[in-house]
Amino acid sequence: MSEQALNVYLNGSFVPADQACVPITDRGFQFGDSVYEVIPAYGGTPLRLTQHLDRLDNSLNAIHMTNPLSHDAWAGVLDELTAQLPGQDQQIYIQITRGAPGQRDHAIPEELAPTVVATTRALPERDAAQAMQGVNAVTLDDIRWKRCDIKTTALLGNVLAYHHARTEGADDAILVRDGQALEGTASNLFMVTNGLLITPPTGDCILPGITRDLVLELAEEEGIPYAEAAVSVVDLENADEIWLTSSTREIRAVTQLNGKPVGNGEPGALWHRMDQLLDAYKARLRLHARERTDA
Ligand code: PDD
Repeated sequence: MSEQALNVYLNGSFVPADQACVPITDRGFQFGDSVYEVIPAYGGTPLRLTQHLDRLDNSLNAIHMTNPLSHDAWAGVLDELTAQLPGQDQQIYIQITRGAPGQRDHAIPEELAPTVVATTRALPERDAAQAMQGVNAVTLDDIRWKRCDIKTTALLGNVLAYHHARTEGADDAILVRDGQALEGTASNLFMVTNGLLITPPTGDCILPGITRDLVLELAEEEGIPYAEAAVSVVDLENADEIWLTSSTREIRAVTQLNGKPVGNGEPGALWHRMDQLLDAYKARLRLHARERTDA
């Protein structure tokens, strides 16, 4: 089935993607007044659905909205959505905007039906050669706002940083505020120094990534020493390994930082181990999906 043939969820109905329309006064369009989630689904089973929906609730609460659907209702919607690509690994996208009032006005309207969208598409197959080559990253000043913990669709700061990195010949940027390295343009940051896995603590400056949490949990289970601690640019430049984690890109090793090799310039030993642990976790989700289908 081609991507275009898939139905999307829009405000309570499933409709063909090319018939899904939103008014031009939608506040998501005009103000970026909107939040989102990206949820990977392995073999059709969403990864950590509860945690993703909890984060969606937190993003909505932070902008004075409540989730228009219960978690159970979301599970039903996503089941129907992902059933369109049976057995496939997918990336689900949810977006909730404050809605479309009659006219443009900065004031938050009191009564307004939100716009609720969910789509799915196949997760691109993992490119093993690319994974081994790793990411060539540069550090850049973080020009985003002060609530990076809210998963808002107002992503211009991220988009411009990514573009800046690409125009410098890099693959991605690691964003820096007051000398502290925070996260990638669409990913969380980890580094390994003397066998210790370190990631910046959650707070207003980074998105509390679901993959980040999973990596920390796997580290805990496997007895890999880890810490949530500030990471300076100097620490990063001297790290043995650097990783970027996200729902769609999983765990990527950064093999070059600011034009210099990280470690020996190849994905490190701990990256290999964590990558395998994540792979095993995904395999369990796919098995769960098959068991649900067989039952
Ligand atoms: N982005 N930090 C930022 C700024 C992000 O945009 C993302 C994910 C993450 C990682 O979060 P998670 O592990 O929950 O995916 C961290 C998604 C994938 C996106 O914008 O497409």
